[in-house]
Amino acid sequence: MRQGLFITLEGVDGVGKTTQALLLKRCLEQRGHTVLHTFEPGGTVLGSQIRQLLLNPEHKELHSMTEILLYAADRAQHVFETVLPALEGGQTVVCERFIDSSVAYQGYGLGLDIEGIKDINRWASGGLIPDLTIYLDADPAESLKKTKGDRIEQRTLEYYARVREGFLTIAQEEPKRVQVICATGSIEEVASRVLEALGGICP
Ligand code: TMP
Repeated sequence: MRQGLFITLEGVDGVGKTTQALLLKRCLEQRGHTVLHTFEPGGTVLGSQIRQLLLNPEHKELHSMTEILLYAADRAQHVFETVLPALEGGQTVVCERFIDSSVAYQGYGLGLDIEGIKDINRWASGGLIPDLTIYLDADPAESLKKTKGDRIEQRTLEYYARVREGFLTIAQEEPKRVQVICATGSIEEVASRVLEALGGICP
């Protein structure tokens, strides 16, 4: 039986998710929450091996179908090993990336079957849905300058423009769950927007 709050952070590479997730964790702890900060892909020991398979630029032969399934496999391990036990123990979970990343990157970005990706991931994650998703929105042309160029980050700006549109479409389709935050400005400015987005969900 799930008790804790499940909050996810989404956005294109280099947008500052980790910084914001850690600030959010600190703020929630000040409000009395016990917080688990985690991430996908690679939030478990087994998942860190899946992450290497996915992001190593040498893995050029990795098929898009395999890519979808590896992200889903990482997610299944993460949800059942880490996220659900924490939620069931009453912790608040702040997770960088979840199913929306698969829908945006593999669905909208690669132009693959969006409903199929949602179905696979619903199944792989036992139907777990975030209570709140904070989507940090920024121009990929800017945010990608801060990245190192792993297998995904080597994709074109056109690809990343589709990923961004994908996130914005998800937010439009699910306005109650997904809050769009402008991720330009100082770390503190973005952090205060993130706190505003928490609204009534986290007293
Ligand atoms: P990270 O750099 O935020 O840790 O994420 C690793 C990369 O994996 C990033 O380029 C986004 C990508 N990704 C997907 O393409 N699909 C997914 O489902 C997830 C979780 C991440």
